[in-house]
Amino acid sequence: MASEGAAAVLLVDQDVSIVREVVPFLAEKGYAVEQVDDGEKAYNLLDDRPFDVLITELNAHRINGMRLMAVAKDRNPEVCVILITREPDIEHATEAMRQGALDFQTKPLNLGKLEAVIQLGLGRQRLVLEQHELRRRLDEKYGLGSLVGKSRGMIKVYEAVRQIAPTRATVLIQGETGTGKDLVAQAIHTNSPRRDAPFVKLNCASIPEALVESELFGHVAGAFTGAVQTRKGRFELADKGTLFLDEVGELSPALQAKLLRVLESQQFERLGDSRTINVDVRLIAATNRPLEKMVAEGNFRDDLYYRLHVVTIDVPSLRQRREDIPPLVDFFFREACRANGKELEGITRNATDVLMRYDWPGNVRELKNIIEGIVIMSRPGRLLDVQDIPEHIRRTTAPEVREMRIPTGATMADVERIVIEETMKVCGFNKERCATTLGIGLRTLYRKLKEYDIR
Ligand SMILES: Nc1ncnc2c1ncn2[C@@H]1O[C@H](COP(=O)(O)OP(=O)(O)O)[C@@H](O)[C@H]1O
Ligand SMILES: [Mg+2]
Repeated sequence: MASEGAAAVLLVDQDVSIVREVVPFLAEKGYAVEQVDDGEKAYNLLDDRPFDVLITELNAHRINGMRLMAVAKDRNPEVCVILITREPDIEHATEAMRQGALDFQTKPLNLGKLEAVIQLGLGRQRLVLEQHELRRRLDEKYGLGSLVGKSRGMIKVYEAVRQIAPTRATVLIQGETGTGKDLVAQAIHTNSPRRDAPFVKLNCASIPEALVESELFGHVAGAFTGAVQTRKGRFELADKGTLFLDEVGELSPALQAKLLRVLESQQFERLGDSRTINVDVRLIAATNRPLEKMVAEGNFRDDLYYRLHVVTIDVPSLRQRREDIPPLVDFFFREACRANGKELEGITRNATDVLMRYDWPGNVRELKNIIEGIVIMSRPGRLLDVQDIPEHIRRTTAPEVREMRIPTGATMADVERIVIEETMKVCGFNKERCATTLGIGLRTLYRKLKEYDIR
């Protein structure tokens, strides 16, 4: 409802007998009632705040009920509108209902009926709003909003998702394990017109090869040993929606051929059945193995590859977008605290710097697990610091003593540039630490970074 608690009702009527009756009646029933006697005042009120219910004369001096309804709906699309006339007027009533009025009543009003209609309308309104709320929460969870990170690499991913989500093009998502391919697939579905139909996932690597076929296409009872009952496959379950085939590079050659046929015809048969089934499925595939290379080596069908990579999204590895690490750390830190009911102070800048220098072979998934582990192991109220980070990460990121090479013939400016560049690397691009190490002021460092165009 537009307002918390009492539903807000606006009554627009000049008829004193109606006003005297309706206002106290609805107030007593617990509604917050406002009453005005002309259209202008009503527009002002509607501009001011949303109303849940509008009761108005259809046509009176300075009151145009149809226009008021349009304005009220503009402010609150779910508003319940009840129009009142002096005489029964079928023609206007039909038109009003067509434009979304809830009811049309004739004077004198039957108060019981009036209230019943309001109740009905508010009930419907509540349902619609609940659905909106559910949608909003789902969007937050599975829409682009669930992806953290604003690096240039990820912004390219978001733009691609926005562009291709509304189409029904087959999408191939490529990226190392743990980079967020599942989230991207989910976001494409959630942002597509198919969002209300199922999002079905099958990981081709996680089930035995012999079962993949029946998982994809389903089977009838007796199709093979163990097939006791008829079962729908993922293609059927995903009808009108999206099928996400993870690790598509793991499909056997025979299944690659079958998949190609479905993509071309949107038709297939259940195992052990000759009946052809038609489906309307959008396919999203993902791989952490370079399919192009597999094609070149003869391990993946080139015709299927061309079908799949109509549109490709490359999700960059975490080490290619280190600036995403701090916001991800922050996000997983809060999430882990909430999930484990812990209250921790936060995480120091030094600790975050160490995490930024690590190469993250398991990408975002690895980062998430590490943060979760740290949070679980630490005592409440603490500020997490470098020593809380697992040893293997600290070891590989310790600023080592490195030598830098300065070619003969270098100018003093070249030397300065090389020294600053190398020190920045060792300090994990932390400018304060770099300035301290070099023994210069932070402002000086900023100036020199700009001068030498070091980023
Ligand atoms: N950009 C991101 N923002 C927030 N969480 C992410 C992000 N990328 C990945 N994750 C999380 O990391 C884990 C691994 O992501 P997932 O999509 O399963 O990766 P992949 O499918 O590429 O192996 C999941 O828990 C996911 O929620
Ligand atoms: Mg995955």
